[in-house]
Amino acid sequence: MIVITAPTGQIGRNVVRELAKLGASARLVARDASKLDPDVRARFEVVEGSHGDSAVLDRALEGADALFWLVPPNAALTLEQAYLDFTRPVVEAARKHQVRRIVSVTALGRGTRWAHEAGLVSASIAMDDLLMSAGSGFRGMAMPSFMDNVARQAAAIREKGLFFGPIDGDVRLPATATSDMGVVGAQLLDDATWSGQEEVAVLGPEDLSNLEMAEIMSQVLGRSIRYQQIPYASFKQQFLDRGASESFAQGYVDMYRAKEEGMDAAGAKRAAIRTSTDFRTWVERVLKPVVLA
Ligand SMILES: NC(=O)c1ccc[n+]([C@@H]2O[C@H](COP(=O)([O-])OP(=O)(O)OC[C@H]3O[C@@H](n4cnc5c(N)ncnc54)[C@H](OP(=O)(O)O)[C@@H]3O)[C@@H](O)[C@H]2O)c1
Repeated sequence: MIVITAPTGQIGRNVVRELAKLGASARLVARDASKLDPDVRARFEVVEGSHGDSAVLDRALEGADALFWLVPPNAALTLEQAYLDFTRPVVEAARKHQVRRIVSVTALGRGTRWAHEAGLVSASIAMDDLLMSAGSGFRGMAMPSFMDNVARQAAAIREKGLFFGPIDGDVRLPATATSDMGVVGAQLLDDATWSGQEEVAVLGPEDLSNLEMAEIMSQVLGRSIRYQQIPYASFKQQFLDRGASESFAQGYVDMYRAKEEGMDAAGAKRAAIRTSTDFRTWVERVLKPVVLA
């Protein structure tokens, strides 16, 4: 049995879709089962509740061979609370139920000099260490940035022809489409032959700068889209204005600074799974319908 956390999220729902294609059995842990598509509810077992709750995990992990773990990006909490405190109950539950393999969503960056000062990335790496202490086989899908992050700025792209960020527009970074993460996650979960514990970089086919992304968006959307670099202080304030904790808002700043200074490029030298969706295809398939809606 494969247990899937966060099946309503952008990665989790893709993992579920791919597991269905593979014909795998799975149990989904969802706070609100009615948010799952009816065909998903009919196809898979569902345990209702939060995957941060020990009692829910105890039910969900009964007889589980493999677990897909994703920490909700709850920016109102501190990084310690969101990544580590949320994960502690699953470590106990995985030990108790002797789960053989855990596949987790993490970030790129271990092994670089930024590992201890990269905000959300440092928190993700500390979470991986905690998960590995359960003693299960472990694969951390180490993703850099999701292409899908750009879609969060769909309103500004539609209304102002702009997207924003704190990073120099010329710095090239890797990015991955969340649909591809679903494919990689489902394959790892369905494959009972691997063992050991490691993070594996999961990278899209190209590194692009924000200026290059703006050019591709302009071509696909048929109108001029510009990238605007904003100061780190304004970038942080935007998170605070939306209700993020000081810890999380500063975590975003530390993470983006580390990216700007080359953390992702260093992390990408580690053994990597290359995914197929390039940014142009992602804009055609995902961003364009959202911007035109
Ligand atoms: N964005 C990036 O560039 C990037 C890069 C690397 C790694 N990551 C990691 O990717 C993860 C985010 O993945 P995502 O974008 O797929 O997430 P997402 O789409 O925001 O989905 C979050 C999921 O968590 C559930 N959830 C939210 N709050 C919860 C709570 N308090 N208790 C239990 N479940 C809760 C949601 O369920 P409901 O439907 O019930 O709300 C949903 O299924 C984070 O761990 C982040 O660190 C992100």
